[in-house]
Amino acid sequence: MSLDQMEYILDHYKNPRNHGTLPEPDISHEEGNPSCGDVIRIDLKIMDNKVKETRFSGKGCAISQAAASILTEMIVDKDLDEIKAITKDDIINALGIRISPIRFKCATLALKVLKSGLYGIKDWPGEEE
Ligand code: FES
Repeated sequence: MSLDQMEYILDHYKNPRNHGTLPEPDISHEEGNPSCGDVIRIDLKIMDNKVKETRFSGKGCAISQAAASILTEMIVDKDLDEIKAITKDDIINALGIRISPIRFKCATLALKVLKSGLYGIKDWPGEEE
């Protein structure tokens, strides 16, 4: 992995974008990674079928927190249909580092929270172990 990409991840971990909670979210959803007990909550403000504002909170490893931060940047002002189409591979690609199978759930936890909150999707292709 390149040093730049590692710095990019660490920057998102140390200075997370859209971190916190929204006072009156339209959707607030929280889920955990059963293998470690870490939890992420995502709040969303929706207007005209788009995400107008989002915040995330919770605790987790650097990969999960960086992925959550990057994901929130990806979804602001995006149409809900576009968001529905975001895949796990999109998140892995956005992280830009090699993710070992054991860290895959860390990298995709925020996406799982987002999709469960927005669409009630618990499992989607690729979710199986
Ligand atoms: Fe818990 Fe990564 S170790 S989310």
